[in-house]
Amino acid sequence: MKQSISLILAFVFTLSLSAQIKMTVNAKQVGAEIQPDMYGVFFEDINFGADGGIYAELIKNRSFEFEHPFVGWTPFGDVVIKSTDPCFDKNPNYVRISGKGLRTFSGLENTGFKGIGIKKDAEYRLSFYARAEEGKTIKLKLEIVNSNNDPIAVKNIDISGAEWSNHTTTLTANSTDAHCKFRLMVENWGYIEMDHISLFPVDTWKGRENGLRKDLVQALYDLTPGVFRFPGGCIVEGNTVESRYQWKNSVGPVENRPLNINRWNYTFKHKFFPDYYQTYGLGFYEYFLLSEDLGAEPLPVLNCGLACQYESKELVALEDLEPYIQDALDLIEFANGNTSTKWGKLRAEMGHPAPFNLKYLAIGNEQWGEIYVERLQRFIDVLGKKHPEIELIGSSGPQPDGKDFEYLWPKMKKLNVALVDEHYYRSPEWFLKNAGRYDSYDRNGPKVFAGEYAAHPQNRANNFEGAIAEAAFMTGLERNADVVKLATYAPLFAHIEAWQWRPDMIWFDNLECVRTPNYFVQQMYGTHSGTNILSISADNLDLKGQDGIYASSAIDKNKTEVIVKVVNTNAESKELTLSVEGLKKGLKSNLAQITMLQSNDLQVENTLDNPLNIIPQNFTETVTGNTMKLKLAKNSFYVIRFKY
Ligand code: AHR
Repeated sequence: MKQSISLILAFVFTLSLSAQIKMTVNAKQVGAEIQPDMYGVFFEDINFGADGGIYAELIKNRSFEFEHPFVGWTPFGDVVIKSTDPCFDKNPNYVRISGKGLRTFSGLENTGFKGIGIKKDAEYRLSFYARAEEGKTIKLKLEIVNSNNDPIAVKNIDISGAEWSNHTTTLTANSTDAHCKFRLMVENWGYIEMDHISLFPVDTWKGRENGLRKDLVQALYDLTPGVFRFPGGCIVEGNTVESRYQWKNSVGPVENRPLNINRWNYTFKHKFFPDYYQTYGLGFYEYFLLSEDLGAEPLPVLNCGLACQYESKELVALEDLEPYIQDALDLIEFANGNTSTKWGKLRAEMGHPAPFNLKYLAIGNEQWGEIYVERLQRFIDVLGKKHPEIELIGSSGPQPDGKDFEYLWPKMKKLNVALVDEHYYRSPEWFLKNAGRYDSYDRNGPKVFAGEYAAHPQNRANNFEGAIAEAAFMTGLERNADVVKLATYAPLFAHIEAWQWRPDMIWFDNLECVRTPNYFVQQMYGTHSGTNILSISADNLDLKGQDGIYASSAIDKNKTEVIVKVVNTNAESKELTLSVEGLKKGLKSNLAQITMLQSNDLQVENTLDNPLNIIPQNFTETVTGNTMKLKLAKNSFYVIRFKY
């Protein structure tokens, strides 16, 4: 009996010991610099992320250029598509609406992107180009109708003049509805021709016309991203060479940017297709501007002469690559050139005489094989000489390991690219096991750009299981900040009614958005990145996942803070004793500032209806001398900050 009691006591003692963790930060061992732009965002027009998403245009197919020109529109009465003597040479289609009097309306109705989101009392700017039948004044009725087909905003406008001219008016709605339609009708006899029929909220991000959805940009802004990678992703490659993203088509007057099919068009389950196109209204100029607004380094990705290697596999012959390389040179001029250069001048005309200070450029997205290396080599030969100031980024293929990856890394070293783009969409288990992935990377070769990554739990949910795995993995990115220079989660946005890929960082409908647990992980890293790595160790734990515990530490010399990130992936709490040693004058405050992301249930998600299920909690904890005690809750991620 006595023996079994002492056995039980020994067992309980061992258990309570194992629930105790003692960690020490050594502030004397200041390591490599953490790039200020390390944590960023990757933007691609997938899941209606651009058109129908952050790009605030509310009219779908505003220029009638979709393959089926009435997609998005319901014509009624006498309405035809024409293209003779167009208003815009690169978007030549327009519509002719012939009125037959008040009782037989002719007109059009637009369904927007899964409806048009309209807010009560908000103003909407309608603009269009029109010419009326010679000698006639055409009476137009403009309406926003709600999901019951009741008009909630109405305006009448008269149009005359047989030459193309631009018209603008505003509409204010008397109620809110996420699924409105826009309707226009001719009320008298005579025809009118119309093109580029566009409706924007007046209240866009920074109030810009041709602007961006304020709530979505705000969500990006709140991440304090250091780098902004655009415009993709697979859309850079296109399904075919012809449908690749061509940045020159995305600049200049918005009305004359030629439409391009979206490479993600065909991947919807529920669809009337082809209905997913890129208007390029959000084009390279707007991407640069957005990067600037966010305080992020712009990081464009250009096509390298290869279409999607999963799809058409089309390639451009090496001897025909010159225009692609010229596109890269011209892009650098567009971003950085002075205003007397051709492309610098266009930037100035578009409203930004000052350079955008481009320093990164990726050639190719997720390419692989010898065909990629040969093409990249051609770009490097020219760009390396003409623009040694630009850091060129090469790809390591679509997987973070395996044949293509093993082939490409040595090639990238040989080509001497500045950074190698790695992509990993893997299970949470993979992320948990790979926190030490970069510990053994070559310190002398190219640096790593984790250009696309996300943990994919079962059903690919945006739940806490994925988020905590990413938080754990990212301690390894931070610990290796001398090798991993940039990291961008992917994809960024998804429309709840029009998506084809998940998980994603931010979900939205036509009126609101929701920040996922994955978003908050990114935000906690982005807002507390620090300036240098610090050494952190624990008694009996490697802090790379042993016993489910992960940790990293940094110093922020500007904010004079020691920052510790700790992840407890266990289904039980742990007692942490954390000491900061090696500070000349010790800590300045006896309170540590703590931000915690935690959930008892790993399957929990944030939704539009319940956006606050998982959000960071802020609190303080007493520090005695240089030591703080903290109970690490089950399934939890902490950022702990000590002022020194
Ligand atoms: O992020 C979604 C897609 O994943 C990207 O377009 C592509 O680069 C990767 O395969």
